[in-house]
Amino acid sequence: MNANAPDPGLLLRQLERERAARKNAEALLESKSLELYQANQELLRLNGTLEERVHERTLELVAARDQALEASRIKSQFVASVSHELRTPLHAVISYSEMLLEELEDAGLGQLIEDQRKIQGAAQHLKMLIDEVLDFTKLEAGKMELHAGSIRLDALTANLRDTLAPLAQKNANRLDVQMADDLGELVSDRLKLSQCLYNLLSNACKFTENGTVTLSIQRERQQDGEWYSFQVSDTGIGMDAGQLARLFRPFSQGDSSITRKYGGTGLGLAITHGLCQVLGGEITVDSQPGQGTVFRMRIPATPPQEAPEDADAASS
Ligand SMILES: Nc1ncnc2c1ncn2[C@@H]1O[C@H](COP(=O)(O)OP(=O)(O)OP(=O)(O)O)[C@@H](O)[C@H]1O
Ligand SMILES: [Mg+2]
Repeated sequence: MNANAPDPGLLLRQLERERAARKNAEALLESKSLELYQANQELLRLNGTLEERVHERTLELVAARDQALEASRIKSQFVASVSHELRTPLHAVISYSEMLLEELEDAGLGQLIEDQRKIQGAAQHLKMLIDEVLDFTKLEAGKMELHAGSIRLDALTANLRDTLAPLAQKNANRLDVQMADDLGELVSDRLKLSQCLYNLLSNACKFTENGTVTLSIQRERQQDGEWYSFQVSDTGIGMDAGQLARLFRPFSQGDSSITRKYGGTGLGLAITHGLCQVLGGEITVDSQPGQGTVFRMRIPATPPQEAPEDADAASS
């Protein structure tokens, strides 16, 4: 026997060990493949139910959204119809009290005239509150329509001056109107613009004493077109950062002491903000406590959509 020839016993054992090792590896591979297969199956199953669950959840969310929208629509409809129903008898109260006032004046019944004026004042106030709620509901429902036409700014400001004179006098304020010379033609919704300016000016008169309330109007050519800027500034109590942050939210007033002292519902600015958007414009404010307030409203010289109707004719 050749001394260098490999020992067949040794070779056999080596071969056995390799075979056993390969078998082990194959068994391991098989068990890992099985695990992988099972994990994959589980993943597929989860994926299937996940899609199902996402679909179910989406359906639930859509149903909840639809319910909320429907509830909101019913609420708006209810508020709108209640406000509308309240206005009808109120109109009767206002017109009969006007008639009665004239008769009392003719008959020279001094004390009764005063009482009658108070009834009329209260009825007008009630009507204003109902109108505010109605406007707010319309804005919330996106149902406020734009009636655009050419606006005579001199007539509009003269009207505002007359309407606001008693409010300005009440707090001994001076009411100034400054209009640039080159104002040209503004085409927008006269009633809505007038309502915005009235809200801003009446606030300025309400929150200022022995001061000045100024409305200044300018036309501005900017990169994004022609704009009209309406600035209402006052020298009144001003507002702090907290008040400014929630200013255009509905029913938001400075604090409870302001509600007690000045009254109001806190809807005026929310409505002004909404109306300004309907006009295609925007409103900003600058104020500091004790330093007065400046509201700036800018609206486009022509309305955001085609509206051939004449505002002065349509809304008067
Ligand atoms: N010019 C201003 N100066 C100081 N505070 C102001 C001024 N304008 C508005 N505010 C503050 O913002 C709040 C909200 O104004 P907004 O016009 O919405 O409501 P209101 O005047 O209180 O009530 P309403 O207008 O519904 O009768 C006011 O209560 C007041 O605290
Ligand atoms: Mg107000």
